[in-house]
Amino acid sequence: MSDIQSALITGNSSGLGQGLTRVLLEQGAQVYGMSRRGCPEAGVAADQRVDLADFDATAVAMDRLLEGVESLDLVVLNAGLLGHMQRMQDAPMDELRLLMDVNTFANKVILDALLRGEVAVRQIVAISSGAAVSGAAGWSGYSLSKAALNMLIQLYAHEFPDTTAINALAPGLVDTPMQDYLCEEADRESFPVLQRLKAARGTETMPDPETAARAIIRVLPRLREIQRGSFVDIRQLD
Ligand SMILES: NC(=O)c1ccc[n+]([C@@H]2O[C@H](COP(=O)([O-])OP(=O)(O)OC[C@H]3O[C@@H](n4cnc5c(N)ncnc54)[C@H](OP(=O)(O)O)[C@@H]3O)[C@@H](O)[C@H]2O)c1
Repeated sequence: MSDIQSALITGNSSGLGQGLTRVLLEQGAQVYGMSRRGCPEAGVAADQRVDLADFDATAVAMDRLLEGVESLDLVVLNAGLLGHMQRMQDAPMDELRLLMDVNTFANKVILDALLRGEVAVRQIVAISSGAAVSGAAGWSGYSLSKAALNMLIQLYAHEFPDTTAINALAPGLVDTPMQDYLCEEADRESFPVLQRLKAARGTETMPDPETAARAIIRVLPRLREIQRGSFVDIRQLD
């Protein structure tokens, strides 16, 4: 059982964000969230449908979500887009921009809204990826956007009060719709990193979203002891 009574989870419509929402609801927390499709879980405190690539709409959605909210125990910046596995030289600029907008800059809009609203946040976790630091062939704009997210979090650590724990966290492999593309559709011959993902699917190395969510919630107290702003891979905490 965690001590989280209130949480904001972005990307709550599927995968890890839905898993986190479900587990926190089960534990009795008030859970707020946002995504384009909306959260399928019953009992959320508030849910905003918004495209995070639209920064103005995201700022409005945040103001609506935070109406009357003075404090949050947890904010998980989870929403993310994968894009295509491709060589950098094949990556269209429009796709690279979209990945940066959704995976990195939308989180600036969200963090700014929390600061502007003077919401007292105990802990912020930005869901990053091993791809933020591995640079394996094919990760392309996804790696770029997650590396930039890690730095964004490092920079915001100077701007949130010292009482707010703030880290970027690679969650390890999680069996979500994102893995459908990586394991079934993307080109394993050109991008060998995908062979490891395919081999992991269906094993405990790639847990379902609820199991992964419980693992993240379990490590939150440890993250609170770690240097503010740093990037941590959950697999290094086990
Ligand atoms: N699965 C893995 O193995 C793995 C590994 C490392 C890191 N991650 C990270 O974990 C996070 C969750 O991914 P997942 O695996 O759970 O994938 P997922 O099932 O595809 O979920 C992605 C979530 O992000 C939301 N999202 C994407 N684009 C959005 C947009 N433009 N506006 C609003 N919401 C948007 C989606 O909501 P809508 O589509 O409804 O908008 C969805 O709720 C991501 O940050 C991902 O990079 C995953």
